[in-house]
Amino acid sequence: MKKAAAIEALKFVKPGMNIGLGTGSTANHFIEALGARVKEGLDVRGVPTSKATEELAREHGIPLVRLHDYPHLDLTVDGADEFDPEFRLIKGGGGALLREKIVASSSRFMVVIADESKRVKKLGKFPLPVEVVVFGIKATIWKIERAFKFLKLDVKMVLRVKDGNPFVTENGNFILDCSIGEIPDPARLEGLLKSIPGVVETGLFIGICGIVLMGTPKGVTEFKRG
Ligand code: A5P
Repeated sequence: MKKAAAIEALKFVKPGMNIGLGTGSTANHFIEALGARVKEGLDVRGVPTSKATEELAREHGIPLVRLHDYPHLDLTVDGADEFDPEFRLIKGGGGALLREKIVASSSRFMVVIADESKRVKKLGKFPLPVEVVVFGIKATIWKIERAFKFLKLDVKMVLRVKDGNPFVTENGNFILDCSIGEIPDPARLEGLLKSIPGVVETGLFIGICGIVLMGTPKGVTEFKRG
């Protein structure tokens, strides 16, 4: 289902485009499919959102450029951990949320590719990743807890760990995975969290995604924001 959605996303790709390349297993299917088109002669450039994506894109022959040199992208195609009926997302399960958000928000439009397990009525079943600076992390955690309390949300916050050590993002930060349950007002939560010094980014993507291609056993369903 992920692969079917990824292949469908190729219909948005036009020659000459500069394309943000997402991170994760679904985005990988898109990179492979795009690479096959490039081998057939399609002229596009990609901006990777992580080292893993960069490596895969290189392997598949996709010419890569830096966002620094191409700050206005035509399109970003990426996966998501959750999407709701208002095209709001939770991302960052793979830890690339900051670069994914910078790249997606620099694109004329973002297409999310996902299987149907990612569709939710309300965001929050998936723990919300919050990327934080390592310096003073305890003080930042305290402020984040206070923000959740202010919103009357019960939260269980866990420092993301990999191989027994804190997971370090490609930007040198840590990630706090916040199990919240249904988030009543994602925009308010986003605003509050982003106002805390030490919080670099959250996995909430609001007003960024315009199209979702959802793979189902019966085919790919397209949702388009009005
Ligand atoms: C990477 O940091 C994430 O935002 C991914 O886009 C998200 O976790 C979806 O991953 P899968 O496509 O592997 O489900």
